[in-house]
Amino acid sequence: MGKKIVWRCPSNIAIVKYWGKRQNQIPASSSVSMTLTESYTEVELELSEKTKDGIELEYFFEDEKNEGFAKRILDYANSVKNQLPVLTESRMVIQSRNSFPHSAGIASSASSFGAISLALLDASFPGKYVNDRYEFLKRASFLARIGSGSACRSMFAPFSIWGKNKLVRESSDEYAIPDVDIHPTFRDVCDSILIVDSTPKKFSSSFGHSLMRGHPYARQRFEQGNRRTVEIIDILERGDWEKFIHLTESDALTLHAMMMTSESPYLLMKPGTLLAIEKIQHLRKEKGISVCFTLDAGPNVHVLYPSEIKDQVVTFLESSMTGIVNQIIHDKTGKGPEKLR
Ligand code: PMV
Repeated sequence: MGKKIVWRCPSNIAIVKYWGKRQNQIPASSSVSMTLTESYTEVELELSEKTKDGIELEYFFEDEKNEGFAKRILDYANSVKNQLPVLTESRMVIQSRNSFPHSAGIASSASSFGAISLALLDASFPGKYVNDRYEFLKRASFLARIGSGSACRSMFAPFSIWGKNKLVRESSDEYAIPDVDIHPTFRDVCDSILIVDSTPKKFSSSFGHSLMRGHPYARQRFEQGNRRTVEIIDILERGDWEKFIHLTESDALTLHAMMMTSESPYLLMKPGTLLAIEKIQHLRKEKGISVCFTLDAGPNVHVLYPSEIKDQVVTFLESSMTGIVNQIIHDKTGKGPEKLR
């Protein structure tokens, strides 16, 4: 039995979306996300002596050999092997597990590449970062970005900023930074994920990003993403739920509007997505409570609200979404990645 390292990395949900990129996962505009806690990937990396030349890496997802993802991990390993000595010095077995059901339709690449990067970085430089967790996470964020852009934001909690923005100090295209001035009301935000449809996506995020090249509204969207990054940082600092709701819902709809107005237009929302959105907006108007939705590049609906009104919102969702959603996953802001072994 070789040495084992285990890392847990949470998923994140963007409030200001990243949509459109340049080579090497460099974002076309800056984004801000909320890091979750219950939706995570755990990666166990087992190291042993090498038996042959080249990268020796076996990958298991939920105890099974998953050829598709294994190929993506191997391509990733090849692209970062010069920065992570463990990749060429040891034989590796990676066991990856998600906390959420495989069939839920929740994108797992952010938490997966997050956890893999943390484990590989830790194994490559044992002891180097013991007194500097921030540097370690920044480096892990850089490496995770190469695997999956949005993964870089999972390193920090409760909110992260990614993408060079001239109005945000220390922001970078290459790694995420934590948003540090967060009002207490935004340190504890609930995210109830309504699973409307869990069939595999017909259009990958990479395809969506590529359609932003030459998109008729690309320039306006990138300017808006940068502007909204600055706005949301201010909203999170001041604790303004009203403005948070307005900006969050608008940015989710803008993301989908970009898909619908591209050269190859497509729709990811389902009838259930719209029904759920209407019910959430109705609840907000009727009861005057702070609740809103956001969307990923898919049909599922993330319902965001302050933790103080959790009981009220959960009761509402459990009773009013029957027949519209298959499953509800109750998540919330978390504390970021954790080393388990
Ligand atoms: O990181 P990718 O390539 O899976 O793209 C993520 C895109 C969105 O989830 C739609 C937005 C975002 O900022 O996370």
